[in-house]
Amino acid sequence: MDFKNKRVLVTGGAGFIGSNLVEKLLSLGANVSCLDNFATGHRHNIAPFMQDSNFRLIEADIRELKACLLACENQDIVFHQAALGSVPRSIHDPITSNDVNVSGFLNMIISARDAGVGRFVYAASSSTYGDSEHLPKVEEIIGKPLSPYAITKYVNELYADVFARTYGFQSIGLRYFNVFGKKQDPEGAYAAVIPKWVKQFIRHENPIINGDGNYSRDFTYIENVVQANLLAASTDDPAALNQVYNVAFGDRTTLNQLAGWLREILAVYDPAIADVEIIHGDFRKGDIPHSLASVDKAKKLLGYNPQYNLRAGLEEACKWYFHNL
Ligand SMILES: NC(=O)c1ccc[n+]([C@@H]2O[C@H](COP(=O)([O-])OP(=O)(O)OC[C@H]3O[C@@H](n4cnc5c(N)ncnc54)[C@H](O)[C@@H]3O)[C@@H](O)[C@H]2O)c1
Repeated sequence: MDFKNKRVLVTGGAGFIGSNLVEKLLSLGANVSCLDNFATGHRHNIAPFMQDSNFRLIEADIRELKACLLACENQDIVFHQAALGSVPRSIHDPITSNDVNVSGFLNMIISARDAGVGRFVYAASSSTYGDSEHLPKVEEIIGKPLSPYAITKYVNELYADVFARTYGFQSIGLRYFNVFGKKQDPEGAYAAVIPKWVKQFIRHENPIINGDGNYSRDFTYIENVVQANLLAASTDDPAALNQVYNVAFGDRTTLNQLAGWLREILAVYDPAIADVEIIHGDFRKGDIPHSLASVDKAKKLLGYNPQYNLRAGLEEACKWYFHNL
């Protein structure tokens, strides 16, 4: 699709994934609105766009239906990224996670439907696989949710499916697997593992691995995720619509290997980092041992072709963090 002059709304556009998506869409000539309440997003993530005449900030909350309706008016595409992420956050405060991730999602999909938005692409999650031990994860086989967060993300998929059947409103859900890259927040109790460890290495603090470090994940670089979003917005294949897709690289890496690579890459910028010791702590509640995606469905139906493996993504991310932290 040619995104030039397309009117697109990115909810959560001041967050990690949203701001990377906004940057790409602006570079393609789209007219981008960003809806965010800065609950976990940051003004510095969107500061570079504020002077761009193709960029508009809507400071609002997706829990307010009226704000969602206004934001969706005259939009061609909605990329719905706004949510409260983090499994531990949802375990501590399931009510707020549910309000934002479920009621907020419902507000957005209703608003997009009523405004006649042509395409609704939303952030789903690998947490939907829950306790399923099936590897690699294929879209059709899921287990029982292991956290309130996982429930909220699965409910999004159920609503999207029902909206297709009931109202003929088509959408595409992208089940992201452990995304990382520039602008991901390293601060706070709910920071994701890669930015948290990078920050600790840079400060010569000891990163803590929960458990023995043999748990593995399909870590996914942000550029691959941006690519999947653009493809989902672009497809005109009826078979590709009203579906959910794994968005990952399609490889798994243990936490021990990840920590070792981060230390090695960052030591190029500061040799003292090579001596920072990695510590092991307790296993964390709600964590599944292994996660690995099959990305065959996205490849086949969307033409997804991830360009960055973990090592290449880590090199890019570390370079950015080293100069921006
Ligand atoms: N990062 C990952 O590895 C990952 C994995 C699976 C799914 N996801 C999903 O991807 C999406 C983006 O995640 P992210 O990692 O960029 O997180 P993020 O926290 O950086 O971004 C989320 C954005 O949503 C905004 N937001 C939160 N509540 C809001 C509300 N009530 N109204 C308006 N805006 C609100 C936040 O301020 C933030 O800017 C989320 O839906 C998340 O569940 C992320």
